[in-house]
Amino acid sequence: MADTTYDLVVIGSGPGGYVAAIRAAQLGMNTACVEKYPALGGTCLNVGCIPSKALLDSSEHYAFLKSDAAAHGIRATVELDLAAMMRRKDAVVRELTRGIEGLFRKNKVARIVGTGRIAGPGVVEVTGEAGKQTLATERILIATGSKPVALPGVAFDGRRIVHSTGALSLPEVPQRLVVVGAGAIGLELGSVWLRLGSEVRVLELLERALPGMDAKSAATLQRALEKQGMSFTFGAAVRGARVEGDRVRVELSAGGATQEEACDVLLVAVGRRPFTEGLGAREAGVRMDERGHVLVDDTYRTSVPGIWAIGDVIPGPMLAHRAEEEGVAAVERMAGLAGHVRYDCIPGVVYTWPELAGVGLSEEQAKERGLAVAVGTFPFLANGRARAMGEREGQVKILADAATDRIVGAHIVGPRASDLIAELAVAMELGASAEDVARSVHAHPTLPEAVKEAALAVGKRAIHI
Ligand code: FAD
Ligand code: NAI
Repeated sequence: MADTTYDLVVIGSGPGGYVAAIRAAQLGMNTACVEKYPALGGTCLNVGCIPSKALLDSSEHYAFLKSDAAAHGIRATVELDLAAMMRRKDAVVRELTRGIEGLFRKNKVARIVGTGRIAGPGVVEVTGEAGKQTLATERILIATGSKPVALPGVAFDGRRIVHSTGALSLPEVPQRLVVVGAGAIGLELGSVWLRLGSEVRVLELLERALPGMDAKSAATLQRALEKQGMSFTFGAAVRGARVEGDRVRVELSAGGATQEEACDVLLVAVGRRPFTEGLGAREAGVRMDERGHVLVDDTYRTSVPGIWAIGDVIPGPMLAHRAEEEGVAAVERMAGLAGHVRYDCIPGVVYTWPELAGVGLSEEQAKERGLAVAVGTFPFLANGRARAMGEREGQVKILADAATDRIVGAHIVGPRASDLIAELAVAMELGASAEDVARSVHAHPTLPEAVKEAALAVGKRAIHI
């Protein structure tokens, strides 16, 4: 017998789940959000986007003062207080997760702490500290996110062999950090520890870094990271790893030979997998693919009527902003509105320095599709604001349909690429042409002028290069 009846029960409070719950409440649904951890916000706020960016920002300040401040005429004696840096990161996380508690109160979303299990159509059983309760609901939204993938023969111990969560809280700076995987986590968290003084080597199975992103832009970023001291071994297959005292021995094969790497800490960052353990979704008849993703139609309905799913748990790029947009679109669809996500306009960012950001098609994807594109690029070397900041690396690249001039992709390596890509994502959402961006007035001197110049370069009329 259910204690309460809801219009919607969301299982999971990550950026997908909590945003969906708030939007549903705005639309008048009596909504509950079930989260098994005591803090709201999911992977993103607790052990993902936010703590990683807090450490990236702190370590950026440290590296600037240590290496680059002198060029600005600033002499500084710098000392690292890692414990204080970690406390600051934890405080940022705490403030933001508490912020969601406030948003739930404001929007009258019922917060239910405990592990949710779909017990049948319209029934969610929650097991928490206070025991079991049963929620009756018209609709269920699965937003249970993802977990790190483990490598065979490499057991996490949370101290020497870690995934991203451990690498966000190391108690001291490792002398040598080996990272498996040159993806977003490997390069971002590798950068944090590199800046704080570790020797960092990245082992990547493929022959390039960031396989999902524009190849030339990823290569530019790789060179910039190599200049900072990060080293890469490509075509490296890790066979196993063992802890011996204070060291980790990593066995790998690369270039046809078996090698061993020794380090203090091994970070395994080879991707994440959808998380549905204990959820009861499969038992309820929800269809999944062979990798454990919940399968949905284009309105986020699963194969079982009354059950929807969004975010990392369904196929697609594992990004917080994608999960948020899907959360909004799914509940708007439930309410009979026209919620929709433009999957070709979702930006992706790697928050290294320089940053790498992309939206839409890469040059390779345009080629694969047989789409003729005009490409305009503009280097930050020729941008006044970047030079004033002391930034010389990277460029903006814009791809426009050669026939219509409509922007189909954009890729930026450089300072604050994460902020700069927003203009081009909006341009693509609005179906803008390169000329539209090129003829828009951009303030001087700013980094976005490099975007304007790249748009001008599509029509071969950049001014400053
Ligand atoms: P999640 O955030 O994983 O949330 C799922 C929630 O469901 C969790 O809180 C979990 O405890 C809860 N849950 C699961 N099962 C149950 C159950 N049965 N009952 C109750 N609760 C349950 N993305 C970006 O866009 N930008 C970034 O900068 C970025 N940085 C990242 C850095 C790191 C180190 C990591 C690991 C990830 C990063 N991501 C980033 C990815 C981002 O965190 C995810 O894409 C995003 O969190 C997915 O949101 P979600 O709501 O689908 O799932
Ligand atoms: P990823 O999928 O981005 O990268 C994993 C990398 O590991 C790939 O380059 C892959 O080729 C490599 N790899 C796979 N198996 C390997 C093996 N056996 N040996 C060596 N290399 C191997 O996954 P990552 O970095 O773990 O991130 C997980 C998810 O979190 C991603 O989907 C990412 O989108 C998201 N994330 C997003 C961030 C952002 O938006 N800034 C930051 C961090 C994570």
